[in-house]
Amino acid sequence: MPPREARVIVVAAEDDLTADLVASRLGRDAFIRLDPGRLRETVTAGGRFAAGTWATTIDDGRRAVTVGPATSVYWRKPTRPDTHPDADERWRADENTTALLGLLRAHPVLWINDPLVVDASEHKPTQLACAARHGLRVPDTLFTCDPDTARTFVTAHRDKVVVKALTQRHTTLIPTTRLRACDDLDAIAGTVHYLQALVEDRLFDARVTVVGDRVFAASIATDGALDWRTVPAADCRHAAITPPADVERACVEHVRELGLVYAALDFVVTADGWTYLETNCAGEFGWIEALTDLPISTAIARLLTHHTRATTAT
Ligand SMILES: Nc1ncnc2c1ncn2[C@@H]1O[C@H](COP(=O)(O)OP(=O)(O)OP(=O)(O)O)[C@@H](O)[C@H]1O
Ligand SMILES: [Mg+2]
Repeated sequence: MPPREARVIVVAAEDDLTADLVASRLGRDAFIRLDPGRLRETVTAGGRFAAGTWATTIDDGRRAVTVGPATSVYWRKPTRPDTHPDADERWRADENTTALLGLLRAHPVLWINDPLVVDASEHKPTQLACAARHGLRVPDTLFTCDPDTARTFVTAHRDKVVVKALTQRHTTLIPTTRLRACDDLDAIAGTVHYLQALVEDRLFDARVTVVGDRVFAASIATDGALDWRTVPAADCRHAAITPPADVERACVEHVRELGLVYAALDFVVTADGWTYLETNCAGEFGWIEALTDLPISTAIARLLTHHTRATTAT
């Protein structure tokens, strides 16, 4: 029997439970799943460039995708080629991943999300400026490695400032931390630090997950922690909530302007309103779906299977 034509490509590691969740919402024959970073010969992927166009197909024997405008790609976190201990395998995994990404990017598919757009959108300066353009309230923020500039900022904010890590790749979690003028600010010399005005009198944190033009929001409440990530999940209270309409609209526009279809935005909510903090372009959602029953995976699966190019950003 010839393979059935599918329109969704799921690119993820084999043990990716979140990809499993989305796949479980797709029809059995609606998608092909592969991990280009893990060498398997069960899926063939290739493209031919002739007469000015690419013809790209992916086939797992049972299903086949002829890549085109109706195709959607759910690109999560395939195995990183550099995790293979063997140099040959590293090289082959790198070739496979680079070839697949390049071929898919040569077509006008729907991406959730294009990993190159994710990389470009992860930077906080871009995110904060984009959020402000869409009317979201953004705290006064400073990047500096100059102790005097930091001291002036902390003093101007009457000692109500936090410092946050830009990357968490080379450490265990560095939580958001208060910074005061009496702290040893000389120690920042040589490393650019990310300082921000403290948002006071928090009612709760909010995680807003955007899927296309749909918004799924949850509150995360602790007993007064500055950073909820330092509190065991069992001691946080999670609930589905509805943000103000203008915040919802701004979140959708912000994600679209970044060139993304999916993202998870963080806010602090006070009696005074919602303050934007950051956008997690490849943020996980399985945990918040499990805690609140927000139907995020269903929305992702629906968009992957029912999209028309007109609803997408790229
Ligand atoms: N300016 C601020 N005022 C008050 N609380 C803040 C501020 N910035 C961050 N927080 C708190 O710190 C925690 C983490 O916030 P945020 O997501 O901005 O941190 P981050 O270090 O940028 O995160 P990530 O590691 O996901 O990039 C949240 O509980 C948030 O409310
Ligand atoms: Mg965050």
